[in-house]
Amino acid sequence: MTFWNGARVLVTGGAGFIGSALVKRLVIEGARVQVIDNLWRGSLDNLARPDGSYVIDMDRDFHLADLTDYSACVELIRDVDFVYHLADVVGGVQFVFSNESFVFRQNILINTNVLSACVANGITNYVYVGTACSYPKHLQMAPGIVSLREDQTYPAEPESGYGWSKLMGEYEAELAMKFGKINVGLLRFHNVYGPGTSFQGDGAQVLPSLICKAIKFPDEPFIVWGSGDQYRDFIYVDDVVEALLLVSQYGMNKGLIQIGSEQATTIREAARLIIQISGKSINAIFDNSKPEGDRGRIAICDRARDILGWKTTVKLDEGLTQTYEWIARLSALLH
Ligand SMILES: NC(=O)c1ccc[n+]([C@@H]2O[C@H](COP(=O)([O-])OP(=O)(O)OC[C@H]3O[C@@H](n4cnc5c(N)ncnc54)[C@H](O)[C@@H]3O)[C@@H](O)[C@H]2O)c1
Repeated sequence: MTFWNGARVLVTGGAGFIGSALVKRLVIEGARVQVIDNLWRGSLDNLARPDGSYVIDMDRDFHLADLTDYSACVELIRDVDFVYHLADVVGGVQFVFSNESFVFRQNILINTNVLSACVANGITNYVYVGTACSYPKHLQMAPGIVSLREDQTYPAEPESGYGWSKLMGEYEAELAMKFGKINVGLLRFHNVYGPGTSFQGDGAQVLPSLICKAIKFPDEPFIVWGSGDQYRDFIYVDDVVEALLLVSQYGMNKGLIQIGSEQATTIREAARLIIQISGKSINAIFDNSKPEGDRGRIAICDRARDILGWKTTVKLDEGLTQTYEWIARLSALLH
């Protein structure tokens, strides 16, 4: 009998990248899982098995709904033991910086509606995920490798409307926890990658976008945005899902817990690894006229280790190989 056997779990954004990976794992662990998603970026394919059947009963447990609508939230978020709130508008650098007002408003509405509906309907446990994009801009621009603790988000100065909206989601969840309205689990992720990630158009984040460019080479040039010197803390999706399971068991009402690899990988190095995995002879072109986002930051994961007993298990080259193969397979099917 596992912790999850028979547990009733609702995952908002469960048709998305991380959400669908969490749903699949929870089903394996024996939970009864419901999903709310408006398919803004997510896809029903993410919830399908290789044979085409779905991992949840779609008629009963999948709810196509817009979480900016409070009445939909109150109607659908009820009678479950855990709410994992993963839905938000998420995108690559280009999308986020071209649509900051939209992203901010959507996420503020989504986050406050979901939490309020949980409280209104007497849900016991709420898990929210924040982002490393909420750290202050000046810390992320500092020279050298910047390793950050959870409490370094204030005084707040996130670089984008996305970072602000996600920080306000953390803040509102902390308020609910402080006033005893609901049990709260709070994780803050660095850059998550892996099979299931969005890889087409402006919405794609840096690794899937570079993988697509390697797959399309030589038909299209392999152009890296920015200098390549900017660095990120990349974390594989399976490790993130493990943290999501652990937070409900060991991390409720314990405050923010950061999840990252604690490794700084420059975009230049990520591009080199992807080129190596592709087996092609590619000369990367670095385009300094394109935005590269912030310079970088990595996690200090002492709290994840101490409170959750969590650690990373998947190395970047292994994770990138899995992701490359997944995208290559899907791209071949799409063309
Ligand atoms: N991917 C990362 O690197 C990363 C890093 C830090 C934090 N996070 C957070 O993790 C969560 C999941 O991210 P992801 O990478 O899986 O993104 P994703 O875009 O794949 O998943 C988000 C899901 O939310 C859904 N959604 C968006 N607006 C909605 C609305 N109005 N109503 C209902 N559903 C809506 C989308 O359709 C999508 O399926 C997000 O909260 C994100 O901020 C992600």
